[in-house]
Amino acid sequence: MTQTSALFSTKVATNESKVNSQAIGIFDSGVGGLSIAKCIHQHLPNESLIYVADSLFSPYGDKSSNVIIERVNKLADWLISQHVKAIVVACNTATVIAIDQLRARVNIPIIGVEPAIKPAALHSATQKIALLVTEATAVNHRFLALVNKHKNGAEAFIQPCAGLVELIEQGLHESEQCHQLVNGFLQPLLKNNIDKLVLGCTHYPFVSTMIKEIVGKEVTIMETALPVTEQLIRQLSHNNLLANGDHVFEQSFFSSKVSPHLEKLMSTLFGKNSSLQSLPLL
Ligand code: DGL
Repeated sequence: MTQTSALFSTKVATNESKVNSQAIGIFDSGVGGLSIAKCIHQHLPNESLIYVADSLFSPYGDKSSNVIIERVNKLADWLISQHVKAIVVACNTATVIAIDQLRARVNIPIIGVEPAIKPAALHSATQKIALLVTEATAVNHRFLALVNKHKNGAEAFIQPCAGLVELIEQGLHESEQCHQLVNGFLQPLLKNNIDKLVLGCTHYPFVSTMIKEIVGKEVTIMETALPVTEQLIRQLSHNNLLANGDHVFEQSFFSSKVSPHLEKLMSTLFGKNSSLQSLPLL
């Protein structure tokens, strides 16, 4: 090897390992994306994570597409300024509304969240499936196109769940108030003989125990944290960005509206104590 090429390969190796040790950026309107972050951490324990909860603008479900697109761009740009090597848009609403334009604009891997419509329809014996989503997702044309594309002849019931994200953000995900709200969404779906229930919002896995109690064993709940994690692993591996085995995991949590309540809730839902830092005003 010539001196120049030796120098070049050292430089490449140094840059590569620097990139590989950089964090994965994850964001959501609030705590919901922690259901994805938790799964990512379980499967990639030595990857560092920067999680952003856009609590000042939560919930996204009742916001216009323009507001959501603007927030997604600002959060992604901020994460990129923190040198993340990939971004997980851990929010169904932000994914259906803003991921295409984000991917067209930035040049690091962007992984989104898509509800598990395809496997639900494929494995439904009754050929009746239901999707729990936010109000913004329920009327989004990209989401509706996705349902039509993947429902494979099954009947798909779309249930917007107004107010549920707010209760989860308040830490009331195990309360009687939450049970009543969820029950009101589920009873009409059960009357329609569904046997697969797709959680189309990353907040909803935090009420999946409650949902299971209401729908019983006949209905399978379909979540997306694992497929998203698998897609992230494929992307990192394809781009040679997986952290080295000796890299030590670090987590940083940020929010656009910090409070002691939120810091405690995020630590509880993620399953690890973490201090919450304030996101600079974007
Ligand atoms: N967790 C989000 C989702 O998956 C956002 C919910 C919201 O803010 O309305 O859609």
